[in-house]
Amino acid sequence: NEFVGSLDNFTDEEKMLREAVQRFAADVVAPKVREMDENENMDPAVIKGLFDQGLMGIETSAEHGGAESSFTSAIIAIEELAKIDPSVSVMCDVHNTLVNTIFRAYGTKEQQAKWLPQLAESKLGSFCLSEPVSGSDAFALQTRAKKDGDHWIINGSKMWITNSHEAEIFLIFANIDPSKGYKGITCFVATKDMGIEIMKKEQKLGIRASSTCTLNFDNLRVPAENVIGGEGQGYKIAIQILNEGRIGIAAQMLGLAQGAFDKAVPYTYQRQQFGQPIGTFQGMAFQIAQAAIELESARLLTYNAARLKEEGKPFTKEAAMAKYWASQVAQRVSGSAIEWAGGVGFTRETGIEKFWRDSKIVGDFYIALELQLIYLSQGAIYEGTSNIQLQTIAKFIQKEYS
Ligand code: CAA
Ligand code: FAD
Repeated sequence: NEFVGSLDNFTDEEKMLREAVQRFAADVVAPKVREMDENENMDPAVIKGLFDQGLMGIETSAEHGGAESSFTSAIIAIEELAKIDPSVSVMCDVHNTLVNTIFRAYGTKEQQAKWLPQLAESKLGSFCLSEPVSGSDAFALQTRAKKDGDHWIINGSKMWITNSHEAEIFLIFANIDPSKGYKGITCFVATKDMGIEIMKKEQKLGIRASSTCTLNFDNLRVPAENVIGGEGQGYKIAIQILNEGRIGIAAQMLGLAQGAFDKAVPYTYQRQQFGQPIGTFQGMAFQIAQAAIELESARLLTYNAARLKEEGKPFTKEAAMAKYWASQVAQRVSGSAIEWAGGVGFTRETGIEKFWRDSKIVGDFYIALELQLIYLSQGAIYEGTSNIQLQTIAKFIQKEYS
């Protein structure tokens, strides 16, 4: 009962990976989804399964204990996990596309040899950029690092950090020289046992099994060799990695939308009203067809951006477009899916409402104005709000046309 779309330019290896992730998601994740959502907790068996399946070092070289697969493979894994549980998907996404990628792209040989095997084998990673005062304006961050002999002393705090309740390895962005503005931002790797204070998990509307915490650094001592990519290079590292990461979030949203569609559509052909399956009424059938078009467009944008990135071509604009569009599709399709299933769609029983709650992490805003609903696509929270994606796209258009 799966509407998979027409895209079929995957290698045999990528197809095998897709099937393996589907099996893992069905056997290990699916039975736990509801309980994890209700308890706001990621089951340790799921985390262990992700590592055991080789899904936490997808692009990492075999030499460092990884699967040495393509970027597209990482995107496939994120999509397939999101079809079953977007929380598990974002855990895998942050770990691979943000944390592992920084070590692969900017780590020295020694740093790669030290950190990548741990990240592939058992230790979860977090990417710590946002702060209470700096979300969209990420480069205004207030965390500071000061040199002290052969160590750096980090002070400050981070907010909204995904995976941080379970993580052991943290990439922290701190400014070592605020007089240089964002050109003082530097990336450090630290471990939990160095003394990072991890506060309680945020209680959230959606992706509730994914942990999101505030972190405090009170004179956190980090060895000098833990600077990644050079002093003052942190802002470039952060945004270049986020450009890629946004393709991951697009895949998460694509998977989420597909997951909701796959649950609701079969129901519309089983449920009879007025003597016929509700999905065959034109009013329903056309909505389903429109959702299928939305899914297809999100899929093409997402995998096109992934391939561009993989082929070393410019992809920033396309990644922003994919994230922006897939975020909207996720919210619309999961919202419609609830309505297609009627009353049962509104209950926890089917799991359809969970997809919609999860989609609100990239949700759109509506404003009621003079009794009309004006639709503003400015929500979309993590890895850059929709407005930030539009700003990125607009800058490219201006450059191309002026
Ligand atoms: N790609 C590459 N470089 C970029 C860039 C992009 N998309 N956007 C900006 N830059 C560079 C500029 O070229 C400039 O560098 P140089 O001085 O070397 O030329 C520098 O960044 C500053 O440029 P701006 O003054 O235009 O940028 P800004 O300060 O106004 O905003 C930004 C830059 C903070 C990156 C902002 O555009 C942005 O993306 N904000 C969103 C932050 C974000 O995505 N946070 C995600 C946190 S992680 C997360 O959320 C994980 C999760 O969900 C699970
Ligand atoms: P704000 O920046 O205050 O934005 C609020 C509103 O203002 C948005 O609608 C935005 O579009 C709009 N706005 C802001 N600036 C502009 C502008 N220039 N033009 C037009 N509109 C604008 N961060 C991490 O570093 N690591 C993580 O792992 C991580 N995981 C997260 C997980 C969750 C569940 C959540 C909720 C957040 C996570 N974040 C993480 C933080 C996330 O990246 C930020 O929440 C996001 O960048 C937005 O920042 P903000 O919440 O401060 O909103």
